[in-house]
Amino acid sequence: MLSERMLKALNEQLNRELYSAYLYFAMGAYFDDLNLEGFASWMKAQAEEELGHALRFYNYIYDRNGRVELKAIEQPPKEWESPLAAFEAAYKHEQFISKCINELATLAEEEKDYSTRAFLEWFINEQVEEEASVKKIVDKLKFTKDNPQVLFMLDQELGQRAPQLPNLLLQGG
Ligand code: FEO
Repeated sequence: MLSERMLKALNEQLNRELYSAYLYFAMGAYFDDLNLEGFASWMKAQAEEELGHALRFYNYIYDRNGRVELKAIEQPPKEWESPLAAFEAAYKHEQFISKCINELATLAEEEKDYSTRAFLEWFINEQVEEEASVKKIVDKLKFTKDNPQVLFMLDQELGQRAPQLPNLLLQGG
């Protein structure tokens, strides 16, 4: 059984994961608008991953006999100054999410809720990967210095990470 505090905090994180998906879909739309399809594809795949994170929280809350409470999802920005600015914003967002996950883990320890603490272990490790993958792209974008040719090559590279969800839906899941 989850404590009131723990349940509230888990529901807040569920909302943040949904916002993360929303943010990355917004970034995907920004890149689609620039005809940078590879960047857009990468962002849409990232958004899908965030939906998966949200679902992990959703399922965990129910497994612990809690009640999921869906709150309004904040509207994400629509425009960024440049591809680099968008990825820098994504990196900052992932750092914020890592901080939130760490705070959840601290709360679970305070509450002596060892099941939730164990559940959060996956997210603690996942955030290391999340931050590293975005930071790598930030560094590459800094290297391009707005050179269109290099940007095009990076777009090709990022396009290799194709979103999975539409395929899954077409195949009936
Ligand atoms: Fe679910 Fe990218 O943090």
